[in-house]
Amino acid sequence: MARKKIIAGNWKMNMTPSQAVELVNTLKDLVVNPDVDVVYCVPAIDIVPVVEAVKGSNVAVGAENFYIEDKGAYTGEISAPMLLDAGVKYVIIGHSERRDYFKEDDALLNKKVLKAFASGLTPILCCGESLELRERNAYKDWINLQIKADLEGVTADQVKTMVIAYEPIWAIGTGKTATADQAQEVCAMIRHTIAEMYDEATAEAVRIQYGGSMNAGNAAELLSKPDIDGGLIGGAALKPDFGKIVNYNK
Ligand code: G3P
Repeated sequence: MARKKIIAGNWKMNMTPSQAVELVNTLKDLVVNPDVDVVYCVPAIDIVPVVEAVKGSNVAVGAENFYIEDKGAYTGEISAPMLLDAGVKYVIIGHSERRDYFKEDDALLNKKVLKAFASGLTPILCCGESLELRERNAYKDWINLQIKADLEGVTADQVKTMVIAYEPIWAIGTGKTATADQAQEVCAMIRHTIAEMYDEATAEAVRIQYGGSMNAGNAAELLSKPDIDGGLIGGAALKPDFGKIVNYNK
């Protein structure tokens, strides 16, 4: 089946609110492609101004994190209802930086995936291996463990609507992109695992992104692969060249 590509920027901890609005305005005409869903996942402080700045455009807004409670004494945290009220559609869950720096384990991430769906947010669930796991050829088992743990209790209908992002940790922020064949191998494996966990229709419907030093120079080859349905872009999302990634097929 034809899956519409989805290309999301993960701005991470970059862009003050004024810089964010300036970037949105710079990108506005550069990121129009009817073949692609475009998402900006932005820091919490930028959400309100970015939602306002993308109004009337083809861009949807995502968050980079949220807390699993709806409200209460959780100093510094942000809830799903707050994100929804602000106009957020997507939320990144399980990015390797949050797994590593903030010790988010699969049990918590599974709760976040379930909470996102219960709240009306669309998860972009990240998975991926370290260089050590890749080098000792243990990456496939590792990723399958992540997928199975993080999707516990998630229904087939929910999985069909979500995004899974394969992000090899050794490619994030390093300029060392996975080859298109390496990325295709893992994205196809993830799709096969979803078929085993659910059914073929669910596996065919779920969109699987690649992330890890994707840029204007390598996007077309990566996105030409049958099981790569988009990209989750870090550094290259903060520049006008992000428009070339969105228009990879032009
Ligand atoms: O979530 C996307 C991010 O981890 C990839 O970062 O800078 O390698 O594109 P980058």
